[in-house]
Formats: sequence, C-alpha cells, structure tokens
Amino acid sequence: MLALTARRMGYRIAILDPELACPAGPVADLLLTAPFDDSKALRRLAEASDIITYEFENIPTESLRLIATLRPVLPDPSVLQICQHREREKTFLQSSGFPCPKFEVITSAADLASALREFPDQCRLKSSAFGYDGKGQLALEPGADAGKAWSQANIPRAILEEHVPFVREISVLVARDAQGRSLAFPPFENRHHGGVLERTVFPARLSDPVANQALALARQIAEKLGVVGLLGVEMFELADGRILVNELAPRVHNSGHLTVEACHTSQFEQQIRAVCGLPFGLVTPLCPAAMFNLLGDLWDKGEPDWLPVLGLPGGVLHLYGKTQARPGRKMGHLTVRASTPEEAIRLGHAALNPLRLRASLPPLAP
Ligand SMILES: Nc1ncnc2c1ncn2[C@@H]1O[C@H](COP(=O)(O)OP(=O)(O)O)[C@@H](O)[C@H]1O
Ligand SMILES: [Mg+2]
Repeated sequence: MLALTARRMGYRIAILDPELACPAGPVADLLLTAPFDDSKALRRLAEASDIITYEFENIPTESLRLIATLRPVLPDPSVLQICQHREREKTFLQSSGFPCPKFEVITSAADLASALREFPDQCRLKSSAFGYDGKGQLALEPGADAGKAWSQANIPRAILEEHVPFVREISVLVARDAQGRSLAFPPFENRHHGGVLERTVFPARLSDPVANQALALARQIAEKLGVVGLLGVEMFELADGRILVNELAPRVHNSGHLTVEACHTSQFEQQIRAVCGLPFGLVTPLCPAAMFNLLGDLWDKGEPDWLPVLGLPGGVLHLYGKTQARPGRKMGHLTVRASTPEEAIRLGHAALNPLRLRASLPPLAP
C-alpha cells in the first residue's frame, strides 16, 4: 500500500524483503530478496535509493544503521531501536513522564516471582523483542506459578505489565517532519480479538477532552522521539477518562488503513510526504468508516466468496495478494464508508458474517 501510493506520486520503488512473494514485489522497480541482515543487499538497496523508510518493526537496527551511513533512513534507526523493543519502549515512556501501564523488567523466574508479588491481580508477560499481533504474550491469572510461566514463555527478556481494565482502545497516527512540525489524524477506535486488531472505527467515539488528550500525547511522544515520518501510538482509555499509552509504532499502522477512503490524505501518502520532505496533506475526515481485518481463518474452506462484499455500498475490499492463508495471518481488509460509524459497523458485519459462517467462525461481536 505504501509502494502503490509512492508509485502514484511518481516515485520509483526499491524493496528489500526476505520473502520472494512479498506483496510489494509486483509494484517494485527493484526487488531485493534477502534477509534483513544481508549487508550486500542492504548496500544495493541504499545505492538504488534516495530515501529509505520501513513499514515493519522487526528489522535489525544494525542493518538500518549500515544503510544510514549511505542514505537517509527515516524515521532514524534510533527511533526503531526504542519502539521495536518493549522494555526500551516502556522505559522511554515512563522516564519521559508519559502515562503507561505499570511494568517490571523480567529476565528470570526469580524476577517474575517477585514482580508477581507486586502485581497480585491479573497481568501480562510480554516478550521484550519480536512481539506483534498478540504474539509473545502470556496472560497470567492471580496466583500464577512464576517458574512454570517463565519456562512456558521461553524467552530471554520480558516485561510484566498490569492488566488494564480499559473502556476503549484507541490509536493516534501523527506525522512529523524534519523541521519538527507535526500533524495528527483524528483518533481511531480499535477492537482487538486474541491480540489481533479486529476492527477500527473512525472517528473514534470519544469526548473532546479525551480526544485532545490523546492527540497531545501522540504529538509530544513524536517530538520527544524525534520521529521524522509517521508514528502510531496505541492507547487505552480508562473509565475516568485518563489515557495510558500501550505501544508505539514508527510506521504506517493497521488502524490507519481506512484513511485511504475516509481522509483527504491517506496515512501512506502522509508517510511518504513526511520522509520525502514534502508538505503534509490535509487530514480532514471525509466520512465515517469502519475497517475489518480479513485473517487467514476466513480461508478455512478455500477462497471466500467475495461477491456480496464487492456489492456492498460504501465497501472497499483490499486483498494483499499473499499466496498462503494461515490462521491469524492478515490477508486483506474491508473498509466500509457510511453516514455514521455505527452504520459502517452494521454494514461490515452484515457483509462479513456470512463468510465467517461458511468458514465455521462465530459472527463478529456487535
Ligand atoms: N496491559 C494490558 N491490559 C489489557 N489488555 C492488554 C494489555 N496489553 C495488551 N493488551 C491487549 O492485547 C493487544 C495486543 O497487545 P500489544 O501490547 O499492543 O502488543 P502487539 O500489538 O505488539 O501484539 C492490545 O491491543 C490489547 O487489546
Ligand atoms: Mg499493539
């Protein structure tokens, strides 16, 4: 989606991806198939490019640093180094005074045992590295056995985090340029299922003070990190209207996919503008919308029958061209535009629930 947008803007694209069948391959002018730590491929990528950015967090920062000696890499590798590692990310948030859930760094069963005494309620053990879509996380019930949990987790470092009884999950995507100017999209409202984003609703149904608090936080975090490009900030809204920051993503974000249809400028274009030194595009909302991720589970009985989805008024189907549908794998998404967020949700559910039924999946919760 980023590459397609860049092409539309007149740029030529070079891609480095370990997978030969990567979705950006067919739109790339130069496709390098190599591991992210292949220094020869990294050099070729740099030599072919004027600007380098990334849309995936599990890239070794040493690779980005190598490229950065040859060409500008934006956001700076130091930003990814913080955001790709939960321990550094949470420590950065806490030490900068941004509100986030309580956590402890865990490197052994003994650490976990003592942290569990501090968090006597439900909590979560989250791997410091390589977590995404709820992977690398373990929900721990009160009285959990530290030794068992630590060997089950089987990871070298983690954080133990309090369970947050949020009323809503939201995200803010803020773009920041090299001059320090920033511009945020209005907040998105997110619902996860099993750790994976299930749907995003736009605009988020927030009170003005909560929305303003979320926007201010995202801008301050982007400033503190010195991001040039897009920063996605995932947050929890508490019952009393306070916000806690959950996660940072220095890239385009799944919750921003619906900006393609619902905002004057998409998140993809905004990212390209920010890293290429162009002025920001307007973030004005065009219409309420809802976005539903289409996971591989939906392919359980073969390719879903898209006909009713294609006929949905206001619906836009995106398929990423991934050849293998694995459970939990993001294969595409459906965006539905409507006159209200509620109507967008209703239409999306009406279109997707029959496909879910055919794949023996329960209907989407209202
Ligand atoms: N401390 C927490 N309390 C309650 N729910 C949580 C907590 N941490 C994560 N979650 C839930 O799990 C989802 C995924 O966790 P997250 O930390 O964002 O990791 P990732 O998205 O990298 O897998 C969150 O969006 C949220 O729904
Ligand atoms: Mg997350």
